[in-house]
Amino acid sequence: MFRTITTLVATAALSAMLVTGTALAGGPVTIKFSHVVAENTPKGQMANKFKDLVGERLSGKYKVEVFPNSQLFGDNKVLEAMLLGDVHMAAPALSKFSRYTKKLQIFDLPFLFKDMAAVEKFQNSDKGDELLGSLERMGLVGLGYLHNGLKQLTSSQPLVVPADAKGLKFRIMSSNVLAAQFKAIKATPLKKPFSEVFTLLQTRAIDGQENTWSNIYSKKFFEVQPYITETNHGLLDYMVVTSKEFWMSVDTADREIIKKALDEAIVFGNKVAAKKAMDDRQKIVDSKRCKIIILNDAQRNQWVEVMKPVWQEFEKQIGKDMIDAAYKSNM
Ligand code: SIN
Repeated sequence: MFRTITTLVATAALSAMLVTGTALAGGPVTIKFSHVVAENTPKGQMANKFKDLVGERLSGKYKVEVFPNSQLFGDNKVLEAMLLGDVHMAAPALSKFSRYTKKLQIFDLPFLFKDMAAVEKFQNSDKGDELLGSLERMGLVGLGYLHNGLKQLTSSQPLVVPADAKGLKFRIMSSNVLAAQFKAIKATPLKKPFSEVFTLLQTRAIDGQENTWSNIYSKKFFEVQPYITETNHGLLDYMVVTSKEFWMSVDTADREIIKKALDEAIVFGNKVAAKKAMDDRQKIVDSKRCKIIILNDAQRNQWVEVMKPVWQEFEKQIGKDMIDAAYKSNM
């Protein structure tokens, strides 16, 4: 695996030269931005905002083309494609980087962050910056974090306590931490691309999945899952990434303009995320398509107690100092 990625890093150098070549040939350089969600989600809206800002500020030199809904690449392929120069930017969920670094697994630890304010505080800290740089040796540059929100469990049967999930099959993103989390409740985790989740749920090939309100709403999971348990047990956030070779091929002044446009788009996207978490939850309630289960403290504590030992399992790979720092951001 390491060799495959190393080969990709070398190939990226050549691709970057080709991108620069396009600019020299006269036309604007196209920055392809690929993502897997709908356009009306926090990530979709952030990407479109970024496209508009670059269009306004670097018209004729750079243009951003956004490919939503896994149209160009699914999350399982996008980073390889980026190292090959076939796409220039993406914002995969933090859970989807484990082939490139084990450090980002911290964001998957169940019940680590009590709310999005704690997430924000940690991501803006020195440790958050350190994690942003954790992809560099693989030829990728972390440009910023983007929020979606906290995850809920959707299911074909009511989940009130962890024992209710025993023996059920849940789709997860490609993360060993998430696999361990579901094994802890004696369920079966299945790593599947986001683009397949609706069909897997609809055909009952799986019993449930975990996701944010905006993804559950925009991908219509609530139409094929009769129950949602409001657990807020984990985080779904993103890292906007590019390849080092592409990024360094952009001249310094333009790079600064592009980065500033991205920072502004992220601020915008984070506002959308906070609002959508509430609005999309309400739309699901109003649809009356499924029952939302709200846990009392005793029930929620059972989920915490069963899932939290997963932290210990990944402590060596992530680093205890990192976990402690993240935990402290709740205070
Ligand atoms: C995403 O929000 O980008 C996809 C999340 C998932 O794969 O569940």
